[in-house]
Amino acid sequence: MTLPDREVIATRAGVSLGRYRASDFAAVHEYATDPMVYRYAEWGPNSAEQTRQYLLEASLPNSQALTLAVLVDEQVIGGAAVWSTDADHRCGELGYSLNRKFWGRGYATLATKMLLDLGFSSLDLHRITATCAPENSASRRVLEKAGFAYEGHLREHKLVSDRRRDSLLFARLATD
Ligand SMILES: CC(C)(COP(=O)(O)OP(=O)(O)OC[C@H]1O[C@@H](n2cnc3c(N)ncnc32)[C@H](O)[C@@H]1OP(=O)(O)O)[C@@H](O)C(=O)NCCC(=O)NCCS
Repeated sequence: MTLPDREVIATRAGVSLGRYRASDFAAVHEYATDPMVYRYAEWGPNSAEQTRQYLLEASLPNSQALTLAVLVDEQVIGGAAVWSTDADHRCGELGYSLNRKFWGRGYATLATKMLLDLGFSSLDLHRITATCAPENSASRRVLEKAGFAYEGHLREHKLVSDRRRDSLLFARLATD
């Protein structure tokens, strides 16, 4: 499927994952500079240059990663990615962020289910993990709704705003 000037990779219940365009800058920069969106992330707030670089890297051919826009009614409402972390063992990871205007409507769960399908099919992964901060209840819920299994508590796993933070580890297998 192709929207005007945009390659759409997957669609489910009105939510699509598609390739970014350079003209998505404003939509991406809006959520990438929102403290509510990056508060648990190891990135953010993005400078304009960082958002441009993200869009550029997302558009480069990459057989080990898919970095995609989350779209509703042809509007970019967030970003989502699945990538290989260990090709020999067919392991990968996924992540997502949405503009907060669109939270609470099930969109991240739909995007995550599509990312899983793409990771298992297009990237040929067997195991896909995701982590979230213990206090990020919305993200934890997204992973549970997408069928991930909780695998453990990673102590001081990430450096976020110069502080070491714990993460919860979740995984789904191609055979689940
Ligand atoms: C995490 C995020 C992507 C969720 O997006 P979303 O589209 O609102 O997610 P969904 O609507 O699919 O599901 C959210 C679920 O979390 C629940 N939820 C939301 N806030 C919650 C809270 N504070 N406590 C408990 N549950 C909560 C919702 O009720 C919903 O569950 P339900 O369907 O059982 O009612 C969004 O909040 C976001 O972009 N956050 C900032 C970036 C981020 O944290 N990314 C993930 C990094 S690991």
